Amino acid sequence: QRSPAVVTVTGAAGSIGYAALFRIAAGEMMGPDTPIHLRLLEIPSGMAAAEGTAMELEDSAFPLLRSIEILDDPRQGFDGTDVALLIGSRPRSKGMERGDLLAANGQIFTVQGRAINEGAADGVRVLVVGNPANTNALVAARNAPDVPADRFTALTRLDHNRAIAQLAKRSGAPVDDISRVSIWGNHSSTQYPDIFHARVGGKSGASFAQDRVWLVDDFIPTVARRGSAIIEARGASSAASAANGAIDHVHDWVLGTPDNDWTSVALSSPGAYGIPEGLVSSFPARSIDGSWRIVEGLAIDGFSRKRIDASVAELESERDSVRSMGFI
Ligand code: NAI
Repeated sequence: QRSPAVVTVTGAAGSIGYAALFRIAAGEMMGPDTPIHLRLLEIPSGMAAAEGTAMELEDSAFPLLRSIEILDDPRQGFDGTDVALLIGSRPRSKGMERGDLLAANGQIFTVQGRAINEGAADGVRVLVVGNPANTNALVAARNAPDVPADRFTALTRLDHNRAIAQLAKRSGAPVDDISRVSIWGNHSSTQYPDIFHARVGGKSGASFAQDRVWLVDDFIPTVARRGSAIIEARGASSAASAANGAIDHVHDWVLGTPDNDWTSVALSSPGAYGIPEGLVSSFPARSIDGSWRIVEGLAIDGFSRKRIDASVAELESERDSVRSMGFI
């Protein structure tokens, strides 16, 4: 057995938290050899529900689950943390402007970034799920100056998995035969799901991209607007699939991406592919020896460039807003 990992989950009493925690405790995220110390971090109004979830976790008698703590103090919540899933955030309520949303979340992720900076374990891995995820990750990272920026990531694995699923439907190839899909940019409706470098069974993704009507009118908007379609159908936002994406993300970060494949991760841009340095943008990436490496050397044609640039422009505008509010 490996040494135990301290896993902190914020928003633990929420829908994604509920869908993620049992799988984490079952070993699906850190692997079957790593015992888990769980920290459920909530705000005071979520503490009672988090207690209930903790009771159910206890009742599952998971062999790997060593302890559960329920906290509403970020400093205690991130003390010694190896993996932080930052799921809790301030949702957009009625009448709330985009600026108000960025301000409310800027506050939350400033506090959490500082607490991670002060107390988390060396080598902490942070995944931001709470929206606006990319910009929340940027705020947290900038408020944790002693933690390398590449330890802060945001979730686009759900978008990546959605793209694979749509490509499987279109091609008839099983999900398992699809690799090298890429999500670029922001986790929002401006994201660009790129299939030009994908492998679909024995074929290239580019051969499917030749059908521009399907690509532009069906595939790209279906992936990019899937979150809204699910809200419309369920009356609630994606929870189990978001939790699944978060678990896949951390699993691959810790244990590596499969050979001959890559995944999509929002991380601090080193200036790759013309994306301004320091923006938290989604890239195709592989996890090697526990660190993300952006896939290099992919040819980006005009069709893709235009779409990447549009999503990056949105990220720049979010960054400028949180900068003008003093969060970064
Ligand atoms: P939810 O509303 O069911 O749960 C959120 C929980 O976070 C609540 O229990 C709340 O008390 C808690 N919370 C709020 N502020 C907190 C803070 N400062 N510290 C700790 N806990 C806090 O929401 P749900 O469905 O679980 O979604 C969570 C977030 O994930 C939302 O922002 C949603 O937009 C985002 N999301 C992101 C996706 C992605 O792919 N990146 C996909 C789906 C959702």
